[in-house]
Amino acid sequence: MPQSVLDAQVNHLKLEAAIGGYEAANKRRDAIEGVYDSVARLINCHRDEIAVVENATVGWAMAFYAIPFKAGDRILTVEAEYASNYVAYLQMAKQKGVEITVVPSEPNGQVSLTAFEELIDDRVKLISVTHVPTNSGLVNPIEAIGDIARKHGILYLVDACQSAGQMPLDVEEINCDILTATARKFLRGPRGVGFLYVRSSVLDQLHPPMIDLYSATWTSLNDYTLRPDARRFENWENNYAAKLGLGACVDYALEVGLDNIKARIDELASYLRENLQSFPAVKLHTFGVEPSSPTQCGIVTFSISGINSLEAVKEILSKGVNVSGSSPSSTLLDATNNNLPILIRSSVHYFNDFDEIDKFLELVREISAR
Ligand SMILES: Cc1ncc(COP(=O)(O)O)c(C=O)c1O
Repeated sequence: MPQSVLDAQVNHLKLEAAIGGYEAANKRRDAIEGVYDSVARLINCHRDEIAVVENATVGWAMAFYAIPFKAGDRILTVEAEYASNYVAYLQMAKQKGVEITVVPSEPNGQVSLTAFEELIDDRVKLISVTHVPTNSGLVNPIEAIGDIARKHGILYLVDACQSAGQMPLDVEEINCDILTATARKFLRGPRGVGFLYVRSSVLDQLHPPMIDLYSATWTSLNDYTLRPDARRFENWENNYAAKLGLGACVDYALEVGLDNIKARIDELASYLRENLQSFPAVKLHTFGVEPSSPTQCGIVTFSISGINSLEAVKEILSKGVNVSGSSPSSTLLDATNNNLPILIRSSVHYFNDFDEIDKFLELVREISAR
């Protein structure tokens, strides 16, 4: 986290401790409202189209479960889909009889646009796509998918959890109706806060699966009215320190510039992939594309032949390099289709440098030479 992100949170917690939670929120009202302006700037929408929620998953689920599915409706999705999203489709299939169609991918890993077009029919209720998966650097072509969704008037949901903060995102260019993201990943923000974008023109098609006295007003003994904006997906109580942290990390990313961030990440990730690929025992999960392919971003995942990935992660962590393990069940379609083991996930950001990457490469070289 940048210092300004840490300060935004710590200062608010100190204020709560000094004068009280309600009082601190009242005192910082303008700054808290400003968080919506910051997020709106990040993705080019109106502030009323943003809900700030507990995490990306809550944002995604609040929107998904608000869709009035009926038996026979179809959901089109991608092979790179994230487990939390896919289990929700499965639940909807079991409970309401919707049909899930996974659109096949091209050899470069991106979803096939031709197949997408061919699979559209008037039963497709939702196109739901993970932009960048949890287990590789793949970047799905969300703008081109948006053109298809718009042409056929189909509701379009984008999970941008892994891409927000590492590349520009513009909901007008993407043409999506719903987009979700978290603070805690490439935006360099705190844990436990994320956001949901809902296009104002689709808001009234969506009834939140959970409401309270903030998202709805109890207008008469037998009735209530939903809020007129995307905050109908929020609830009354929330972590204002984390919310201010979200605003601060978005402002920081905007200040650095999303184009600059993307360019630097591309440079570092290409260098990392190029070098990893030169180790005979290392198998990169890149669908065999060039290290600097535009279909790849800052997440670099791989396995080492004959080495247990979780043991390798432990060893690399103990040497001061942060990596994690990505298990097949987090992206089961991709893992099954490509026969993936647990992968070692390394992500570069713009603040990394070539020396750090060389240090990491040396560790991998040592492990892979055993
Ligand atoms: C593609 C994708 N979507 C959503 C999420 C969920 O984010 P959060 O845990 O912040 O809710 C993740 C987390 O890894 C993810 O990789």
